[in-house]
Amino acid sequence: MIKQILWTLLGTAAIFVVVAMVWRFVSRRHTVPCPVWLRWLVELDNPFTRTNRAASIVEHLDLGPGMKVLDFGCGPGRVSVPVAKHLGNEGQVVAVDIQAGMLARARERAQAAHLANIEFIHAAAGDGKLGHSQFDRALLVTVLGEIPDRKAALEEIFEALKPGGILSVTELVFDPHFQSRKTVLRLAGEVGFHEHSFFGNRIAFTLNLEKPNGG
Ligand SMILES: C[S@@+](CC[C@H](N)C(=O)[O-])C[C@H]1O[C@@H](n2cnc3c(N)ncnc32)[C@H](O)[C@@H]1O
Repeated sequence: MIKQILWTLLGTAAIFVVVAMVWRFVSRRHTVPCPVWLRWLVELDNPFTRTNRAASIVEHLDLGPGMKVLDFGCGPGRVSVPVAKHLGNEGQVVAVDIQAGMLARARERAQAAHLANIEFIHAAAGDGKLGHSQFDRALLVTVLGEIPDRKAALEEIFEALKPGGILSVTELVFDPHFQSRKTVLRLAGEVGFHEHSFFGNRIAFTLNLEKPNGG
């Protein structure tokens, strides 16, 4: 009986690993975003690691009064909502996602929190809807690896940030699309970002990247 349970657990884990690897591989060529039915998993706000929790991301964002923050690939608003709360009415969050279902859930959460300072945009990386020199901060929280052309997406965000603005990239090793610190630094460096600060470890980290003044 115990042997059967062990084999079942092992089989389930193996299936999970294979699905994750195939998903990761396919995502380098095609857009296969985290499905809306899995949003509950995103909303868990990971109980195992601290760095990728919304509170920790907000803490490391060095937010100031009146800032405008882009949450790219906002999903169900797990991070957009606490950032908007922190900023208050003088600041603004622009929450962008490729999936209407994710945006609907993010809107629901914003309404429940009585927040009127979040703008929701239904768009994908590369759609050119972010504008130029608009944002003080930008967030990519467990999103980068889901975007087929990561460099183009980083270029678009670079353009959308004000000079001196910060892009905050958070990655979690349990995410099938995990991007290592080295990979993020390489891709972001090619676009023109400089490392500003690093929080966490190899399992979960937040890497803050700065768009140089005059960039
Ligand atoms: C794993 S979820 C993370 C959600 C949120 N950032 C968080 O940490 O709670 C990834 C999100 O990125 C969005 N996404 C994936 N590819 C995208 C793209 N090319 N353009 C815009 N959003 C995208 C997905 O729809 C999904 O909501």
